[in-house]
Amino acid sequence: MNTILSPHELWAPHVRAHPHPLYARMRREGAVFGQRDLARDIPVWVTTDYKTALEVLRDPRLTKDERRVPAEARQSRTPEMMAINRNMLMSDPPDHTRLRTLVSQAFTPRRVEALRPRVEAITHRLLDALPPGGPVDLIDTFAFRLPVTVIAELLGVPPEDQDQFREWTGAITAPPTQARLEALRRASLGLKAYIQALAEQRRAAPRDDLISALLQAEEQGDRLSPEEFIGMVVLLLGAGHETTVNLIGNGVWALLRHPEQLERLREDPSLAGPAVEEVLRYRGPVEVATHRWAREDLALRGQVIPAGHTVYVSLLAANHDPAQFPEPERFDITREPNRHLGFGFGIHYCVGAPLARLEATLALPLLFERLPRLRLAVAEHALAWSEGIIMHGMKQLPVAY
Ligand code: HEM
Repeated sequence: MNTILSPHELWAPHVRAHPHPLYARMRREGAVFGQRDLARDIPVWVTTDYKTALEVLRDPRLTKDERRVPAEARQSRTPEMMAINRNMLMSDPPDHTRLRTLVSQAFTPRRVEALRPRVEAITHRLLDALPPGGPVDLIDTFAFRLPVTVIAELLGVPPEDQDQFREWTGAITAPPTQARLEALRRASLGLKAYIQALAEQRRAAPRDDLISALLQAEEQGDRLSPEEFIGMVVLLLGAGHETTVNLIGNGVWALLRHPEQLERLREDPSLAGPAVEEVLRYRGPVEVATHRWAREDLALRGQVIPAGHTVYVSLLAANHDPAQFPEPERFDITREPNRHLGFGFGIHYCVGAPLARLEATLALPLLFERLPRLRLAVAEHALAWSEGIIMHGMKQLPVAY
């Protein structure tokens, strides 16, 4: 284990707000770096450069299936959580292939493009509801509401239950410290019971939504087990908004810090697409990819990673690797090429990428167009960033306009 840092340095609050200087130091030291997980106090390994990230994300010597690893290293900290975590993101082929095939049709660029008018209407409705001038927390009133409404409508989950979901998925994605285990247990049970009850309703009266479609696959038994059905809905609900909220939030933050880039976007709205790609690179919502574990003792860039140990691929560190991105600290909405890893890479590449892109490319320009005086309502240093290293975003974003 490298010794230039304290064992939990990656989790220090000042690092959570600005992780890049630390990653740059780590990268100079090596491509794979040892830390101790903050919540579980076990050794974990973090990759620091682009090339290693690509290699690890397609290396079959690592598994995504937590059933193959010792309990203390698992992502699910309790049996209740394990019971709702049977999903594609936590599977290896052939299960992964089967589960992903079931939903990939729902998120093709063509299917997602058909949602454009609806996403635009929701965006306007949320902006209409903001009180004149503010201040408001933009995360709560906008960045969270948009993606959660869209994914809830797609799945067929009543939108009035959004806040309940936010609480449950928040409990599940927070770093699973000992003190949080009870909340984790309750959230897992709550989600499971809620989805089962909804499934009963849809079974009795199917609708034109994704839950009804998945239930038909479940009835065919060999395609989706009851446990996998729950896991799929939990994953889509969680991944469908826990991430996009931070793409919008981090995008607003980055544009406000770079007024000249914001000006370019205002002058030329066709830059919305490249601007969103640059946000995904510069401050993507997923800082490190989800858990992967060594299936066997693994030699990686001169470091031996013992079987069962967790490997975190830092997408943010890869996206700031100067060997891949010239002047990585420069936020440039016209950056070209921009082959960032914000949506991951390999077989687990984000299924929802077209939807996330649609939401953010609509939301960011509309927000700045309708609120031309948008600005932070607190000092930059007062912004609190998420505590864990998987999701990267602000807890609140107080703004005035
Ligand atoms: C800005 C928004 C988003 C970002 C940055 C993001 C990022 C990611 C990343 C990095 C992964 C791979 C994780 C890994 O390999 O460990 C992933 C996987 C996934 N994402 Fe997203 N995501 C976003 C939005 C969405 C949305 C809107 C949905 C659903 C509708 C979604 C559904 C999924 C699913 C199902 C997987 C697992 C794919 C698999 O295992 O094959 N994501 N996402």
